[in-house]
Amino acid sequence: MRIVLLGPPGAGKGTQAQRLAERLNLAHISTGDILRQNVKDQTSLGKEAKDFMEQGLLVPDSLMARMLLDRLAQPDIKRGFILDGYPRNLAQAETLELLLKEKGIGIDEVIYLDSSDSVIIQRLSGRLACSNCGANFHIKNMPPKAAGICDKCAGKLYQRTDDKEETVMKRLQVYKQEAVDLIKYYQEKKKLSRLDADIDPDVVLNEIIALTKKHDSFKV
Ligand code: AP5
Repeated sequence: MRIVLLGPPGAGKGTQAQRLAERLNLAHISTGDILRQNVKDQTSLGKEAKDFMEQGLLVPDSLMARMLLDRLAQPDIKRGFILDGYPRNLAQAETLELLLKEKGIGIDEVIYLDSSDSVIIQRLSGRLACSNCGANFHIKNMPPKAAGICDKCAGKLYQRTDDKEETVMKRLQVYKQEAVDLIKYYQEKKKLSRLDADIDPDVVLNEIIALTKKHDSFKV
């Protein structure tokens, strides 16, 4: 099973992708996490991406395509995957289709997590991310068991630099510019399901799992 999670920043793509990956034994491909790791490791990709990310802008499609190509070459994707953060625009959706076609596979389900601006701002201003495994927490909504420490790996929690208010507003603006065409693309392919993501995360997860069950070859 190959799933794409779409939605604005803070809709819960990372949170749901991580839970879903564990539940369904799928690989979790987060382009944001891969980029942040590259920035941390000061790779050439990280150096090229850093300024775009700090300004809340999209990293150029050509860089993202190379990154995706590398990730899709890894063996864990054979059991299926969840894409979180890619595609972000029509060009990326077309690139994804092409890359998968070359492997003789396609996307089974595209799930759009719909969230309101007020919820997004509340969530991102309180988000804590693990510096080691990338798990997401929230100061109020989903606090870690011990302050500042990841429940999963005991890594240190930090606030992402792009969660500053002005950067969040920019990310939201960029998202809105690109989302219409992207949503239309998957609607026309009859692959898109829309879910309200402003509700309890366990309920959202169950709704996503229910959507995956319609695929005959994949029973949870
Ligand atoms: P990326 O890391 O992908 O950021 P994003 O898409 O802006 O999404 P977020 O990670 O902010 O939010 P999310 O939807 O995953 O929400 P989360 O689960 O964390 O990208 C970062 C940057 O990298 C981009 O700006 C761009 O520069 C670059 N980039 C990445 N991919 C790219 C691409 N394909 N092309 C070009 N550039 C790219 O949840 C948020 C908070 O809410 C958490 O605290 C969580 O605990 C909480 N929460 C989640 N769900 C719920 C719920 N149901 N109820 C209550 N709280 C909840």
